[in-house]
Amino acid sequence: MQRREFILGALGTGVVSSSVVELISAVSSSALASEAGPTIPYGAAIRVDHLTDDPDYAAAVRKYCQQVVGEGGLKWIDLRPTQSSFNFDQPDRLLAFADENGMTMRGHTLVWYAAMPEWTEGIGSRSEAEFEMVHHIEVVAGRYRGRIPSWDVVNEPIADDPPQADPYRDSVWYRQLGKEYIDLAFQTAAAVDPAAQLVLNDFNFEKTNARSKKRRTVMLDLLKGLKDRDVPIHALGLQGHLTGEAEIDKDGLSRFVEEVSGLGLDILVTELDVIDNNLPGTETVRDQIAALRVRDYLTAICDATQPKAILTWGISDRYTWVPIWFERRDGKLNRPLPLDQNYQPKAMMQVLQEFTKAGA
Ligand code: XIL
Repeated sequence: MQRREFILGALGTGVVSSSVVELISAVSSSALASEAGPTIPYGAAIRVDHLTDDPDYAAAVRKYCQQVVGEGGLKWIDLRPTQSSFNFDQPDRLLAFADENGMTMRGHTLVWYAAMPEWTEGIGSRSEAEFEMVHHIEVVAGRYRGRIPSWDVVNEPIADDPPQADPYRDSVWYRQLGKEYIDLAFQTAAAVDPAAQLVLNDFNFEKTNARSKKRRTVMLDLLKGLKDRDVPIHALGLQGHLTGEAEIDKDGLSRFVEEVSGLGLDILVTELDVIDNNLPGTETVRDQIAALRVRDYLTAICDATQPKAILTWGISDRYTWVPIWFERRDGKLNRPLPLDQNYQPKAMMQVLQEFTKAGA
């Protein structure tokens, strides 16, 4: 039996013998280290307050990252306390850290359905929605023109389980402007910062199930439409919030990435982590399974193209969004990221270093 099947087979039984653990450590030391992939910049989503209140966190970011993106700060909920005000404190602090440490900063995200301040519920007409979206992009992308070289212009535009007839996710933007809100967002961002890399960002294209397949089809159609209308989009961001117990559809994902690349679009992996709430409790086993998922995911993508960047959504298990939605029933800490809660590298970091320039 192949090592991989034996390891992942342990998933089903829930019983992990000591031989599996030995076997897994063998996999981590040999197979994972042998197949060096292409070199790609590595980055992480950052909680800017911890750069000052947790020196080990800042040291880990400096050690491993060439890029940073704010986990918050550039979302409307943080940025727009009122309809007439902007609070740039967090992104300004993160950009200063990036500049001081020779890193580039990604902007996440100009237009999203979620993390919206209460006042936006009052946007009740087409003209109001158009003004608010265009004004927001003009002010925000204008402030960071030439300093934030890559933006998630529109985040998660398709519904979780998109109906063929109407695959778009509900939002104030879609309700008031129709699907052309996506065109307008990219056109506005391009007008404000013609040199910026403009990215459409979404998730769940990697599983073998019907939903992932449907999302691949719908996203491809959406991207083709944008290209047919000459909308200034440069890349698709694959968030990469992987489900620990779910096999990666390597062929399906590779074909999808090939087709996206065939449209003249680049690929970024923007929010990689492994949601491990349904993985066995043994940390060693969980870490190896998570590393194998990341390896399959990045191999599938890199078989089709070289991503322009690979970012994880956080760098240490100490600070992760995962338990907000995917808390473990056994009460154990989630382990979704490449460093453990004490900033020690796990097998996932080893896999990431095979594919990126991480110099650590
Ligand atoms: C999450 C943050 O990590 C949380 O801290 C916040 O409470 C909610 O948003 N996809 C995205 C990210 O594009 O912006 C989300 O980030 C995670 C899912």
